[in-house]
Amino acid sequence: MKREQWGSRAGFILAAVGSAIGLGNIWRFPYMAYENGGGAFFIPYLFAMLTAGIPFMIMEFGMGHKYRGAAPRVFARLNSKFEWLGWFQVMLAAIIAVYYVAVIGWAISYFNMSFTQSWGSDTNAYFFSEFLQLGGDNGPSKLGSIQWHIAIPMAIAWAITFAAIFTGVKGGIERASKIMMPLLFLMVIALIARMIMLPGALDGLNYLFEPDFSKIADPKVWSAAYGQIFFTLSVGFSIMLAYSSYLPEKSDITNNAFMTVLINCGFSIIAGILIFAILGNMAHEQAKPLTEVVSSGVGLAFVTIPSAINLLPAPYILGPVFFFALVIAGLSSHISIIEAVTSAFIDKLNLSRKVAASLVCGIGFVVSMSFATNGGLLLLDLVDYFMNNIALLASCLIELLIMGWIIKLSDIHKHVNNISEFTIGNWFEICLKFISPLFLLVILGTNIYTTITEGYGGYSTSDLMMLGWGLVAAMLVSAVLINKASKNNTQES
Ligand code: PHE
Ligand code: NA
Repeated sequence: MKREQWGSRAGFILAAVGSAIGLGNIWRFPYMAYENGGGAFFIPYLFAMLTAGIPFMIMEFGMGHKYRGAAPRVFARLNSKFEWLGWFQVMLAAIIAVYYVAVIGWAISYFNMSFTQSWGSDTNAYFFSEFLQLGGDNGPSKLGSIQWHIAIPMAIAWAITFAAIFTGVKGGIERASKIMMPLLFLMVIALIARMIMLPGALDGLNYLFEPDFSKIADPKVWSAAYGQIFFTLSVGFSIMLAYSSYLPEKSDITNNAFMTVLINCGFSIIAGILIFAILGNMAHEQAKPLTEVVSSGVGLAFVTIPSAINLLPAPYILGPVFFFALVIAGLSSHISIIEAVTSAFIDKLNLSRKVAASLVCGIGFVVSMSFATNGGLLLLDLVDYFMNNIALLASCLIELLIMGWIIKLSDIHKHVNNISEFTIGNWFEICLKFISPLFLLVILGTNIYTTITEGYGGYSTSDLMMLGWGLVAAMLVSAVLINKASKNNTQES
């Protein structure tokens, strides 16, 4: 059967951008920039974008386009020894997908509550911990019961993702992206236009952009920038490989990659402006210094921003728009991550898209319910830490080592230059062979070391062993076993 294809170049770029722009851009980037030197963070961030983000994206678009498959097939076609890395990436994608959808579920709930909510009455209008039913003695391995008010919006998110994947690349994913992305841009522009005029907003921006150059000498800041770039661009966990495998024969790889990266990183900066304008206004209204109102992690999007919105003029309009933007950004990323998994199933088991989509979404839905429980947030936090800071960085590093040092990266380089309008020079190989792996090695090494010696987030050793290290080890072992089995199969046939 002929592989499905995108209907247009714009469709592909919107889908790739839809994947890249996600919850990470809206709540993660702004506080990372704030914590890591404000304006000075842009130096390591741009460095990471240029030396890792752009070349990595060109490489993955080139690999997907050349070898025409989701991650397992791409790596198997490079060499049957490496199929396991593809499966490791698919499992990483599947695990991220089941907790990411919980955050989309919260955003859907908040969107809904922002209509039913009596705005303006008190600043703690939203009680996030009450919403999540935290407290008690629940934890990552003691989940408690299912919270239906979280489970139901999660089911809605799954239904939308399922509809897009089930319908197919052009009719489903591309069409959804063509609706969602322009809508997202419009909403964010409208929000900024309104927020920037508010008293205190510009002070917020000053806080975000004021450079603290002393931070540039801090290796932690570089590590934060480098670690963020892979997650934010959706590279290294099979998504961009699957998406670029649907590109037509004639495609301008280099240009597409540049556009995807620049739009994503530009959007992050715009989201930073939006968030800090809101926070600046809140600090002004409460006559507090901005440092007292900023928070990090999920608390920013689900605790601080809602109470800041509550202080705005017309919160009943701005609230729904903000949460709708969050939902759209999340859904377009969720669609891409589920497509990466589905597409691997289609390649491997010769299933039809409809059967594969039903299987993946069905199982994914059931597993994701563990995050709709009383212990769900803690489980999410723990699993997310290990996936982002250990598994994803390891996956990117191994991918670079295989491509740069074992396989001929120059083949991809030539392939990309043959079909793209611009040709790219040697910097491409220098970044991917030397600079990026070196940074990744140091960051990953540090993360593994500190996690072993200090643990993470105060979780118990057994939770860390089981749900952290154990999960990563289980992914690795099953990936290797699948690789073995498929090598035996090909030898027999
Ligand atoms: N790039 C996304 C973000 O910044 C990350 C992501 C993509 C997560 C796809 C899940 C699925 O939020
Ligand atoms: Na992103």
